[in-house]
Amino acid sequence: MAWWRDAVIYQVYVRSFADSDGDGVGDLPGIISRLPYIHRLGVDAIWLNPFYPSPQADGGYDVADYRDVEPLFGTLDDFDRLLTEAHRLGLRVIVDIVPNHTSSAHVWFQEALHSTPGSPARARYIFREGRGDGAEPPNNWTSQFGGPAWTRVTEANGEPGQWYLHLFDTSQPDLDWSNPEVGDEFESTLRFWLDRGADGFRIDVANALAKHSELPDLDDRFRHRRLTEAGHPHWDRDEVHEIYRRWRRVAEEYDGDRAFVAEAWLRDPERLSLYLRPDELHTAFNFHFLLARWDAGSVRKAVDSTLDAVSRVGAPATWVLSNHDVTRHVTRYGGGRLGKRRARAAALLMLALPGSAYIYQGEELGLPEVEDLPDELRQDPTFLRTRGEIKGRDGCRVPIPWSGEQPPFGFTTAPTAWLPQPAAWSALTAAREEGESGSMHSLYREALTLRRTFELDPERIEWAEADDGVLVFRRAPDFVCAVNFGNELAELPTSVRGAKVLLASTRPPRRDTLAANSTAWLSIGRGQSVATRRRSST
Ligand code: GLC
Repeated sequence: MAWWRDAVIYQVYVRSFADSDGDGVGDLPGIISRLPYIHRLGVDAIWLNPFYPSPQADGGYDVADYRDVEPLFGTLDDFDRLLTEAHRLGLRVIVDIVPNHTSSAHVWFQEALHSTPGSPARARYIFREGRGDGAEPPNNWTSQFGGPAWTRVTEANGEPGQWYLHLFDTSQPDLDWSNPEVGDEFESTLRFWLDRGADGFRIDVANALAKHSELPDLDDRFRHRRLTEAGHPHWDRDEVHEIYRRWRRVAEEYDGDRAFVAEAWLRDPERLSLYLRPDELHTAFNFHFLLARWDAGSVRKAVDSTLDAVSRVGAPATWVLSNHDVTRHVTRYGGGRLGKRRARAAALLMLALPGSAYIYQGEELGLPEVEDLPDELRQDPTFLRTRGEIKGRDGCRVPIPWSGEQPPFGFTTAPTAWLPQPAAWSALTAAREEGESGSMHSLYREALTLRRTFELDPERIEWAEADDGVLVFRRAPDFVCAVNFGNELAELPTSVRGAKVLLASTRPPRRDTLAANSTAWLSIGRGQSVATRRRSST
């Protein structure tokens, strides 16, 4: 079976993982020095957030050169060393590709700015005349970071001129993917990293690349900020699939099962599955699970709808609880002891589901969101573009506490990290948790070890009848996962009574029960029926 069908992938947010040169910002040599830690955790691969030359207006998602390394993070040689070392440890490496927009510092955009309306240089981006006398943006589209999605440029004659589209920050102009030059350029970039040995790509806003050719106004149906609906003029348009068919053909030319994972926030799992047809992308993030409330019904629905959708196209599911764009799940689940307890339960649930799973750096330490960062240190363009109305994503990007009793906890030799870590993280350092039985880290490590020992059915789960607030499913002839979402102790269903607890996020006080807000991995007799209610997929 191809590795990406059930891989556990550790997300490394490069700026915040480990700093090797004392400038307070994480870098590639820092990651190399910590690869043994990632390896010991027991994952199969890492995904690196963008490390390319970039003004860092959006944490590196504003790429100025797709085929080099940002000096802040190291050199191409460092990347090659990282890859070699990761491969030596048996870890695959996925890199991020940002095809929807470049940085405004990219040579193409600089050339476009200095060229005339209608020129081939402008045709790589989406430049248009404004409405009315030209002083109004071409349409009513808005930036994901707040404010209009258009910025007006000053032409060579010093007069205000055309407008360019940016679905994100003004420094992230959208490329025009209907221009063949754009596709050719990205094919070369894919090959550049595949030739170096990258095992795959995470595709940034994979559902944004194709735009309605007439750029019509957004109507009232499309007011949702994140998830999208059919018929949208710039999200999830059918034309986007042709791009990924071409990318798949490129990946197939290489040996070693190179794989894509799409970042696409879509409302409808069926629409998401279209990206995963056999001649398109291998996997896509599944944000329904991440967005599900902590209750049995919501989670069951997210799991079923995901498995139903992906099974139609023969793709594996993916599961993720946190990443660099969302509030860390310890905090989302209620924060404090409750949030942590649920986060432990969610980890065992996620790692028992069929398919591939993503772990965001620091979730294995139980890091919460840092909610009280001083405003003057915030760097997320969302914060800046909404004038502080939306705090943004800096709170989930605070650097990793590695060791010691005080910030910066071994992250850097500088006095402070680029974002300050809370003093209370002395209890959450990697060094401390690695040596502590019962820590979040130990739970992840044990789960990742156990996960390898079962003959797991790669696609199927069988749900068992269970009380309200409890989900029980079988993943292997002898392996059952049971989750209690409630705040009270729950009884295990009769069909799994007597099962042996292999691992529990919180130890139940007595046999055949589940502690409140907990998950248990159970070993049952191979022949024992779990009174299947329905198959989620076949
Ligand atoms: C994706 C990235 C996010 C970035 C945005 C624009 O959603 O995950 O961090 O800001 O794309 O590139």
